[in-house]
Amino acid sequence: MESTSVPHGYSSPEIVARYRAFFQAHGHTELVGSPLAVPGNSTSFVIAGMQPLLPYLRGQQLPPSTRLLSLQRCLRSDDADAVGSNGRKNTFFFMLGNWSIGDYNKGDAIEMALSLLLEDFALHQSTLWVTVFAGDSELGIPLDETAVEHWLRLGIPYERIVPLGAEDNLWTMGGPGPCGPCSEIYVDRGLAFGCGLPTCRPGCACDRFLEVWNLVFMEYERFTDGSLAPLPQRNIDTGMGLERIASVLQGVESAFSIDLYQPALSRLNEQLSEGNRQRPDLSMPVLPVTPEVRARRVIVDHVRAALFAGLAGVLPGRDGCASVVRRLIRRAARQGHLLGLQQPFLNELVVPLAQAHDAFLRVEERAQVSTLARMIADEERRFTYVLARGLQYLAHLEPDQQGHIPGERLFVLHAEKGFPPDLAAEVLAERGLSVDWSSYEPALAEHRRISRLSAARHFGL
Ligand code: ALA
Repeated sequence: MESTSVPHGYSSPEIVARYRAFFQAHGHTELVGSPLAVPGNSTSFVIAGMQPLLPYLRGQQLPPSTRLLSLQRCLRSDDADAVGSNGRKNTFFFMLGNWSIGDYNKGDAIEMALSLLLEDFALHQSTLWVTVFAGDSELGIPLDETAVEHWLRLGIPYERIVPLGAEDNLWTMGGPGPCGPCSEIYVDRGLAFGCGLPTCRPGCACDRFLEVWNLVFMEYERFTDGSLAPLPQRNIDTGMGLERIASVLQGVESAFSIDLYQPALSRLNEQLSEGNRQRPDLSMPVLPVTPEVRARRVIVDHVRAALFAGLAGVLPGRDGCASVVRRLIRRAARQGHLLGLQQPFLNELVVPLAQAHDAFLRVEERAQVSTLARMIADEERRFTYVLARGLQYLAHLEPDQQGHIPGERLFVLHAEKGFPPDLAAEVLAERGLSVDWSSYEPALAEHRRISRLSAARHFGL
């Protein structure tokens, strides 16, 4: 079970304060973090601390200073289904970042990062590993020997410097935009967190080596065809996820057991022991964590994301960011169903979450919390009936001869009962079943054709 004891060590607000003080002492000017969703653009959330700095990184606008820092709210939902299965991936997170806009170089960035971790955060040098860009012949970029030299100069032994290829160590925005080779800092959390394989090292999927800081040497603009051109100046772009570094500094198991989640986890534990719990259904295998641990993590993570999206003015809905929030609430609701909780229950976690984040909320945001809790309850209530009926339908589905569930079944479930196909696929995956999506689109097209015909008949068109 995820620990709910009071974490020791640095609190999250203290970590942020130390980060700020360190980089301010090194000449950085703090930028106010941008809104999580750009007002007027409801199609995407901010996914990285550097996003609001794009005009500076591209040399299109003069920055207020060539050394910047910020605490940016980010939300990455593309792999929300991976949340909870490991201890490090949050959908919503705070990213601490420091930047050089054509000012200091790679060596300075590495030196500052190491100094903060070893001196201010008192980590042991022996627990740190780093990765560097191994180079890519197609892109014409060689192994980042300069980064290797700097790490060696600062005492990281050769065997703890791991070169990785473009997939891991050429940081991009996921598409076109400023990018560059990166060097990541990992903390070895010890064998107890690991897979135990002899090949386990930074880059392994298990929780032993936790990436806490990414230093991107942002020197290129990447175009849609994948080609690169040098940016007008050499920048440094760094990102340290607050939840991850807090899990290390607070000595807790995962990024879900830090101080920012504790009150919500405690409330969830109360709900689970309050006697309103029906028989939990936790029979599906989820490795390497137990289904119950995973469910708790998903619930607190997704409610937190919905809370911060709501504070940015994004409420559950059909399109763009609003549909992401709806999906997160539904996934959390379903995990509650697995735990046997009577719904709605998610709304009761909102106030404890907000209280734990008090140091990070503005006055006007505090005033919105109870309204957002009510909206989350409404959304969950609306979904409860759909969820129960959908799960019943899914429980009776049998795979075809190839061992697949035909996609058209999921289409029927969506069209007739309103159950989201991605959530259905997730439920089936937990039973070890996969979906053959090839029949989904034809079923949708046929449904549209029939709807058009009947509309035409009805309106005499
Ligand atoms: N932009 C880099 C990241 O988000 C620092 O990891």
